[in-house]
Amino acid sequence: MTTPIKWGIIGPGKIARKFATDIKVTTNAVLHAVASRSEAQAESFAKEFGASHAYAGYEAMLQCPDLDAIYIATPHVFHAEHTLMCLDAGIPVLCEKPFAINTQQVKAMIAKAQAKDVFLMEALWTAFLPTMKATKTLLADGDLGEVFSIRADFGFKAPYLPDKRIFNSALGGGALLDIGIYPVFLALFLFGVPKHIKASAKIGITGVDEEIGIVFSYQDGKMAHLHSTVLTNTSTEAFIYGTKGTIHLHGRWFTPTTMHLNLFDAPSPKEFQFDYKSGGFEYEIEEASQCIANGKKKVRYSPLILAFN
Ligand SMILES: NC(=O)c1ccc[n+]([C@@H]2O[C@H](COP(=O)([O-])OP(=O)(O)OC[C@H]3O[C@@H](n4cnc5c(N)ncnc54)[C@H](OP(=O)(O)O)[C@@H]3O)[C@@H](O)[C@H]2O)c1
Repeated sequence: MTTPIKWGIIGPGKIARKFATDIKVTTNAVLHAVASRSEAQAESFAKEFGASHAYAGYEAMLQCPDLDAIYIATPHVFHAEHTLMCLDAGIPVLCEKPFAINTQQVKAMIAKAQAKDVFLMEALWTAFLPTMKATKTLLADGDLGEVFSIRADFGFKAPYLPDKRIFNSALGGGALLDIGIYPVFLALFLFGVPKHIKASAKIGITGVDEEIGIVFSYQDGKMAHLHSTVLTNTSTEAFIYGTKGTIHLHGRWFTPTTMHLNLFDAPSPKEFQFDYKSGGFEYEIEEASQCIANGKKKVRYSPLILAFN
């Protein structure tokens, strides 16, 4: 077995806890260091999850002598700044979704990774789940016949806390950047970059989009109907429609354990069942660690990157 990739975390908040939990079931990665704005938080997080090093201040962790990679788990608006800081130090980066908050930032991050020849990947964990691989295989094998559209949503009733991430424009709030990127990802992942995009949003009193509807239209006639909201719970399902049938990714489709293939000429739907070893982040951690171990430098899997490369 090869030596596991030693990971450091920047921003040990809510989602970093999930990363630190799921890394334990990976075969090629370990949590090695944690950096927080607060010394006490860095130390307590490191102790809880078994990291050997705790740093007060994000920049301080760049001096860690045997760190292989950094996971950035700060709010969206800091992703570009923190990614650029790590890439400048020559350290590979796995950056939480959304990769950044605008195209200028995305372009700067890609340019830096390329100039420094350092690995950079968006932590869009859904891309690495077994369901996504199974869906792509069914489409490639032609099971659905001619595939012509996608319908996907992601909505939840977020607690109205105007100072916190979701409703706070200064922290990059809003439905699109927080959760709308998942339906957008699905369309880009399965159909690629559209020819036309039409979108309409409800902007709330804090200035962020609370609800958004998007239609992607493709050169070959395909369409993707995408919806996201932080005002209410939606079924959060995805459907892929073809001339011979439908794939149904069940509720909370972005992390599903079951999906159905409903073929019009089959007597009953075919069920696919997937069990994760942990919460599901283990797949992206293993993928990023494998790429880093293999010396792969390509920037990977971001819907934004797909759209801009
Ligand atoms: N992949 C997923 O399923 C998923 C799910 C939820 C969120 N996310 C993404 O992960 C990122 C973090 O989300 P989260 O829910 O974990 O956020 P959070 O708990 O609110 O913040 C994460 C950490 O960022 C640090 N931070 C630095 N500057 C900050 C500031 N000005 N205000 C608040 N925190 C600051 C804090 O750590 P220290 O103070 O200790 O340095 C904080 O604990 C977001 O971009 C989000 O989109 C991904």
